[in-house]
Amino acid sequence: MSLQGKTALVTGGARGIGLATTQRLLKEGASCVIWDRDPAAIDAAKAKLADNGEVTSDIVELAKPESVEAAAGQALDRHGHIDILVNNAGIAGVNKMLWECTPQEWRDVMDIDLYGVFLCCRAFVPGMLKAGWGRIVNVASIAGKEGNPTASHYSAAKAGVIGLTKSLGKELADTNIRVNCITPAVIETEILKQCTQAHIDYMVSKIPMGRVGQADEVAALIAWLSSDEVSFSTGAVFDISGGRATY
Ligand SMILES: NC(=O)c1ccc[n+]([C@@H]2O[C@H](COP(=O)([O-])OP(=O)(O)OC[C@H]3O[C@@H](n4cnc5c(N)ncnc54)[C@H](O)[C@@H]3O)[C@@H](O)[C@H]2O)c1
Repeated sequence: MSLQGKTALVTGGARGIGLATTQRLLKEGASCVIWDRDPAAIDAAKAKLADNGEVTSDIVELAKPESVEAAAGQALDRHGHIDILVNNAGIAGVNKMLWECTPQEWRDVMDIDLYGVFLCCRAFVPGMLKAGWGRIVNVASIAGKEGNPTASHYSAAKAGVIGLTKSLGKELADTNIRVNCITPAVIETEILKQCTQAHIDYMVSKIPMGRVGQADEVAALIAWLSSDEVSFSTGAVFDISGGRATY
C-alpha cells in the first residue's frame, strides 16, 4: 500500500487513535494534517512525529461550523487538496442513565461525535469530487451497533455516524470516493479517563478476546481503508472489536 502524494487530514489527531493513525499514514507516504482542539497535545504530537514526515495542524472546535470552515480554508491553502479524511475525533461524555443526563451533556456528545463528522464531510467532499479521488474513514463504535448502557448519547451519535456513512457512501458510489466506517470496541487511550470503571469493566467483559485493543491496531485498518486497495467497499461498516460484534 502506498499513500505517496496523498494528503490526509485526521481529526482528533493529537492523541490516541488519531495520533497512531497519523503516524501510520505518514509511514505509508502521506502528508498529514492534524486537527484538534488541544494546542498542547498538537505540539506534543508534532514533536513525536517530527522524523516521520510532513505534518501540519490547525486548532479546530469540530462542533462549530465557523471553526471547521475556517480551518478547512487554512488546510486547503497550505496543501491544495485533502485526499483522505479520517473523522476520528470524539468524546465519550459522562456515564449516566439517559434520564439523568442534562440536555447539555447529551447535546455535547451529539455535536462533537456526529454533527462534527457532517461538518468535516461537508467541508472536504466538494474538493474530492473535483479531484476525482477521495477516501473518508469515519470512526464510529461498537456502541453504535449494540447500544451501551449509561452511554445513550454516545451510542446514538455513533449509530448516527454509521447511518451517515451508509448514506454518503451511496451518494458517492459512482465516483472514486469511498466512504467507510469502523466500529472499535475498547481501545486503550485517554478517552477512557472520561468513563467510570464500571462502564469500562462492562465493555471489556463483552470482548471475547478478553483484552482491550491498541491504537496501532485500529490505525492499520484505517490506513487500509484510506488506500487504493479499497475499491469495492463503500458505505460499509468494518468491525474491530476483538470478536464482540455479531454483525
Ligand atoms: N478508545 C476507545 O475505546 C474507542 C472505542 C470506540 C470508538 N472510539 C472512537 O475513536 C475516536 C478516537 O478516540 P480516542 O480513544 O483516540 O480518544 P482520545 O480522547 O484519546 O483522543 C481524542 C482526540 O480528539 C480531540 N477532540 C475531542 N473533541 C474535539 C473537538 N470538539 N474538536 C476538536 N478535537 C476534539 C481531543 O482533543 C483528543 O486529542 C473517537 O471518535 C472515539 O469515540 C474510541
